[in-house]
Amino acid sequence: MSDKTEKNLAYAFAAESKAAVRNGAFAKKADAEGYAQIGRLFRAVSEAESVHARRYLMLMRGKVKSTEENLETAFNNEIRANVDEYPALIKDAADEGKENVVRLLSQARDVEAFHSQLYKKAMNDMLSDRETGYYVCQVCGYIAEDEAPENCPVCGSVKGKFKHV
Ligand SMILES: [Fe+2]
Ligand SMILES: [Fe+2]
Repeated sequence: MSDKTEKNLAYAFAAESKAAVRNGAFAKKADAEGYAQIGRLFRAVSEAESVHARRYLMLMRGKVKSTEENLETAFNNEIRANVDEYPALIKDAADEGKENVVRLLSQARDVEAFHSQLYKKAMNDMLSDRETGYYVCQVCGYIAEDEAPENCPVCGSVKGKFKHV
């Protein structure tokens, strides 16, 4: 594939990924405002944009490899977010006195460390047939195994805020 096409696929992947998340936020807002039907529409389009984004990523050179390699990539991405990327963002927000932004970014930084541990564990367990469910905090993104905790250890949300995956 030409470099231009690779670049365009990367652009389309980023744009569709953002549109998927943005429409998800629009759906939540529509629900909160009592527009259930509009909420469903935004959610449906969000799903569709995710389909597009995934297809582009699958086409891009070297982006989706074997599961063993993907676990390694995912692990390294979490570590980078935890150690380099979020700390830089947190510092900027703190310098500008944006305390609410600092709090959200700090929670995300802490959550990434937990994500990296889950990947590490999965890499070690890859050939065992251990099966577990995952419970994702819908407020901060913390993931619990086996069952949802009474309160999220990162943001304190109650059990009901966890979504089973
Ligand atoms: Fe993460
Ligand atoms: Fe949480």
